[in-house]
Amino acid sequence: MNGKILVFGADGLVGSRFTDLYHKETPTITPKFEELDITNKKAVELYFETYKDEFHSVINFAAYTDVDAAEKEKGNEKGVVYLVNAVGAQNLAEATKAFDKYLIHISTDFIFSGTEGYPGPYPEDAKLTDNPEDVTWYGWTKLVGEKRVRQVNKNASIVRISYPYRAQFAGKLDYARKILSLYDEGKLYPMFSDQKITPTFIDEAAKVFYLLLEEKKSGIYHVASCDLTTPFSFAGYILEKARGAKGALKEGSMKEFLKVPGRPPRPRLGGLANEKTAKELGMTLMTWREAVDQFVSQLKEGPV
Ligand SMILES: NC(=O)c1ccc[n+]([C@@H]2O[C@H](COP(=O)([O-])OP(=O)(O)OC[C@H]3O[C@@H](n4cnc5c(N)ncnc54)[C@H](OP(=O)(O)O)[C@@H]3O)[C@@H](O)[C@H]2O)c1
Repeated sequence: MNGKILVFGADGLVGSRFTDLYHKETPTITPKFEELDITNKKAVELYFETYKDEFHSVINFAAYTDVDAAEKEKGNEKGVVYLVNAVGAQNLAEATKAFDKYLIHISTDFIFSGTEGYPGPYPEDAKLTDNPEDVTWYGWTKLVGEKRVRQVNKNASIVRISYPYRAQFAGKLDYARKILSLYDEGKLYPMFSDQKITPTFIDEAAKVFYLLLEEKKSGIYHVASCDLTTPFSFAGYILEKARGAKGALKEGSMKEFLKVPGRPPRPRLGGLANEKTAKELGMTLMTWREAVDQFVSQLKEGPV
């Protein structure tokens, strides 16, 4: 691929794995948050004007990702969560449109409710809600961001991911490494057996970002395990493979957990279906067990 890619949020959990894995094939420009705040429309425009000849595409990993903290801003369109996830996404869509650049914008399965009335796994073209009460505030702000990207720049793709994890990252724990960390500390709580999820192995997502950049495809793509699991099964398999601990896990119910007032909302029957993504990109997405096997071998041998 000729030319560079401008990457926002390149220091985060997902973005940094993409730049680690593909920096040789795709040289990147990675402005830090302090250097360029995507919520600042004027600064974004100026940055694009200044560096427009140095990159052909943009990937936006920048987001406000703390779901529980985001909930405290519910309904606040002046708050940081909305500004980063909705307005920031719009700013990048407008700048990429104005400067004729291809955009990949990262999103989440939390844009879907995961309720019994509208359960997942959701295909790429699943109906989207227009009611913020159906989803978390994080989910709603990400959904607004997606919609604005799609309205503004047709030369863009949205890639939704779900419970992303990787074998190594100093910045924060992810879904899989948190399970291991809590287990090692003897603090692992019961895991839900009545929640449906499709976790995303970040290495596989990075491959999809790369394929999309090569072909500059537009549309909506889902990168997650091709089959559903539950936190109970997922955690049990990780502990067995990574720690040799069989049957070490207590089973919990999300339905019961969510009955207690004040508990942070989460989609219960979620998950991303990805047949269209696999077909369009000519690839097979891994089952959750295949992905965990790769994750565990990287834990043992070090990431590739
Ligand atoms: N993590 C998950 O569980 C999850 C699940 C599904 C989808 N996703 C999506 O995947 C994408 C990447 O998530 P992640 O977990 O890698 O995020 P992350 O680790 O929280 O990293 C986010 C990055 O965005 C930067 N950033 C935040 N606000 C910014 C702003 N106003 N301007 C410029 N940069 C800003 C952060 O900079 P600083 O480090 O300097 O703050 C950080 O580098 C996001 O779109 C997220 O919604 C994540």
